[in-house]
Amino acid sequence: MTDIDIELRVNGDLRRDRVPPRLVLADYLRTRCGLTGTHLGCEHGVCGACTVLLDGAAVRACLIFAVQADGSEITTVEGIAAPDGELSPVQAAFREHHGLQCGFCTPGFIVSATAFLRENPDPTEGEIREAISGNLCRCTGYQGIVKAVAAAAASTKHDAAAAMGQETLEGSA
Ligand code: FES
Ligand code: FES
Repeated sequence: MTDIDIELRVNGDLRRDRVPPRLVLADYLRTRCGLTGTHLGCEHGVCGACTVLLDGAAVRACLIFAVQADGSEITTVEGIAAPDGELSPVQAAFREHHGLQCGFCTPGFIVSATAFLRENPDPTEGEIREAISGNLCRCTGYQGIVKAVAAAAASTKHDAAAAMGQETLEGSA
């Protein structure tokens, strides 16, 4: 089958590539973009190791062809931190609360948690457990991860409240 031209943004960078229609997005990111934080575990949508953000929504990059991402904005785990390297609240909380596990499963957890907290910034523990249930770790417990996601939610809430307080102060000045 003929290769197809695609144009998309990956972690903010505009990319134009010619790809085979059968090339899955995860392989495209790893082999063409050199972004090897996105991993392929099961290759059929079960483990979550390949999770990336596509136009802000968490998706399984093993279940999408690169050509289907044409025109979209992709964020991989490499694009979650700020451009100056400052860790995102989720990354910082994973580091602090022992949510970091092996390099294979952790990126998927980070990306899934990032998308989840954008949708639900104040989750219950049950909601957190449900949200990360699509990501598998074959080795350890999930306690540190649950704690980390809760801490990231709390820190984001704290930052938002502080910003609001600042605005109020500035508004009354
Ligand atoms: S590799 Fe995509 S979900 Fe497992
Ligand atoms: S699969 Fe990553 S720590 Fe178990």
